[in-house]
Amino acid sequence: MSQPQHPASLSQSRSAIRQHVRQLRQQLPTATHVKAATELAERVTNTADLMSKQHFALYLANDAELNTEPLIQALWHAGKDVYLPVLHPFCPGYLLFLHYGKTTELQPNRFGIPEPQLNCANIMPVAALDIIFTPLVAFDVSGNRLGMGGGFYDRTLSQLPADSYCQIIGLAHNCQQVDNLPTASWDIPLQQLITPAKYFDFR
Ligand SMILES: Nc1ncnc2c1ncn2[C@@H]1O[C@H](COP(=O)(O)OP(=O)(O)OP(=O)(O)O)[C@@H](O)[C@H]1O
Ligand SMILES: [Mg+2]
Repeated sequence: MSQPQHPASLSQSRSAIRQHVRQLRQQLPTATHVKAATELAERVTNTADLMSKQHFALYLANDAELNTEPLIQALWHAGKDVYLPVLHPFCPGYLLFLHYGKTTELQPNRFGIPEPQLNCANIMPVAALDIIFTPLVAFDVSGNRLGMGGGFYDRTLSQLPADSYCQIIGLAHNCQQVDNLPTASWDIPLQQLITPAKYFDFR
């Protein structure tokens, strides 16, 4: 999908892309979602570089995002530590990552997305994560990322030091790829991206 690049229409074109791609993924049949989730888990667990890591931030799918549940199960099975984003209670617009184990209870946040209960003992500093798998609405072949429009990941990932080893990896359905995303100065790009069909490395 090509979009006009005129700066005056930047926010309009970003919201038009969001609307279009969200609709595309919402129209995917249930069988496609199920297959995509399995393929994602297989792709990650078959990637030695990823499986050499220990601390994985993930997300729980919302709005027809690529389902991560089989991947989370596979990571637990492999003895990895999994973390989920929690809305920061004091710093609006920022996320915290909390440990997510098999017995962790979840409660819906103000967007209706389940998250672990806030407990300081379970917080993982962002810079201590090995991999952050991010949800997104759209991406392009250069690794630009467009989210749901809250700026939560942009703010949170901007805290990573420049020499961080933490890898930022987007997860998306194939239909979320667009030709050329109009970017903003605050957008944090992806280093890699995984779809059910393809592994992109933008580094
Ligand atoms: N590092 C930052 N500091 C302050 N404000 C920021 C920062 N990053 C993004 N924002 C603000 O967040 C708002 C939404 O940003 P943007 O449209 O890029 O969200 P997004 O990338 O779609 O969402 P998300 O990051 O949650 O996936 C913008 O108004 C922007 O000014
Ligand atoms: Mg952004």
